[in-house]
Amino acid sequence: MSTEQRAGDELLVEGLRLRSREAVLAHAEALILQAWRSFDQARPGQPAVDERVRAMLLEALPEEPSDPRGALDAAALVLDESVAQSRPRFFAYVGSSGLEIGVLGDALMASHDVNVAVAAGGAGLLERQVVGWVSDFVGFGARDGLLASGGMVSNLTALAAARERAAPGVRHLGVRDRRLTLVCSAEAHYSVHRAAEVLGIGSDNVRLVHVDAQHRIDVRACAQLLEADRVAGALAVAVVATAGTTLTGAVDDLASIADLCGDRGVWLHVDGAYGLPAAAAPSVRDLFAGLGRADSATVDAHKWMFVPKACSVLLMRDPLSLRAAFEHRESYMPLVDGEDAHPVDSTLEYSRPLRALKLWLAFRVHGAGALRAAIERNLGQARLLARLLEEHPRFELCHQPQLSTVCFRHRPSSKVNLEDHHRRLVPAIQLDGRIFLAGALTGGSSCLRACFVNFRTIDDDVRAIVEVVDEVGQRLAEAGSNSPAGPSAR
Ligand SMILES: Cc1ncc(COP(=O)(O)O)c(C=O)c1O
Repeated sequence: MSTEQRAGDELLVEGLRLRSREAVLAHAEALILQAWRSFDQARPGQPAVDERVRAMLLEALPEEPSDPRGALDAAALVLDESVAQSRPRFFAYVGSSGLEIGVLGDALMASHDVNVAVAAGGAGLLERQVVGWVSDFVGFGARDGLLASGGMVSNLTALAAARERAAPGVRHLGVRDRRLTLVCSAEAHYSVHRAAEVLGIGSDNVRLVHVDAQHRIDVRACAQLLEADRVAGALAVAVVATAGTTLTGAVDDLASIADLCGDRGVWLHVDGAYGLPAAAAPSVRDLFAGLGRADSATVDAHKWMFVPKACSVLLMRDPLSLRAAFEHRESYMPLVDGEDAHPVDSTLEYSRPLRALKLWLAFRVHGAGALRAAIERNLGQARLLARLLEEHPRFELCHQPQLSTVCFRHRPSSKVNLEDHHRRLVPAIQLDGRIFLAGALTGGSSCLRACFVNFRTIDDDVRAIVEVVDEVGQRLAEAGSNSPAGPSAR
């Protein structure tokens, strides 16, 4: 049946156009509002994917059109049965929280579908403005850089520029028989290894420096390693300092590492994908001293600046270094008069949505002060959790939080094997569904890890971590069985 044969209200699509756009838009708006309302409170549990949804997700390729309102309802149902990081009790990994104005920014961005690969008028100017604003927000100093999909890509982009500076021409010649290295702490994010692999440096040439008691890179050991490698003929491409490690939120001593790099002419990249927004927060700002001497820095706005994924900002001291690494000419995109490069000449990606728009709106609508205050609130929540855990007889705090990440253990009794207990505890908590936590390893031992980067989280949500973990953990210990404890009877 063709769409033209349908009658009246049912005729909502015509070819690839929506017909009753107002009706469809109003429907989408209601669904978004419903989602936002449901994120306002903690929900009693995470619903399982029901049979109806499973069956729908096995259906064959639809040939015929259908009512867009029904399709949007189906999409919303699938999302409602998915683990959403926007919920206030999602504490795992480094989440994101789908800031409402950012959601609208994404919709608007996608409607215009600008590509910021080539000159795109106002969009290009807006991206530059956002890079400058983020630089001012965290105190980087220089106001150049670009937007990328995520921290993984921003780190790779910066390290491609660092590689070209360390070994000019390497992008064309390859590394050949030279030994290039990247230096970072043993607790740096694995995106450094990924970059080494992609850039032909090799992950075996990522030189891991051990960390001190605060999980920060041991600066003296870093200096010794750089020197030993130099004597052995290796070429250090960059030192990657972490400003907020994924595991514990540790901030490396940026000023001392900047001294090391400055003395040796080695590129300093700061991976602040998670933690760097905290450089804007008065209570921890001092931890980031030295940032203004880094060559490049990654900040993921989709983490601790609350906008929806994906929105990473790469800050660069010398924008020409990106051109050296990426500039490329093609016959189908010649430069026009007055242009000396396309935006894409400084990036890894070609098709580039205007990711900056959601962050631009976030700054304009809420102001930098509100973002700063939300970050401070998350920092306070990590301190609150640390205090509650220290006061509780059945918990062990693994480290004092430097930022908003807290690793801890549940210790139901002295008789329990803690490794077995935590192996069973993590899936049991996730099955219970009142909070979402993931497990981690510190010092080789299993623990639980909570990370606060959500503007919706309130202090009661923090208290719920202690209550739920203890309740589920005690139940597991009492059952003493090998199967995870089921959902609570509440
Ligand atoms: C310190 C750090 N760097 C890089 C990344 C990778 O970021 P993305 O997931 O945006 O690619 C993460 C992710 O959590 C991170 O914590």
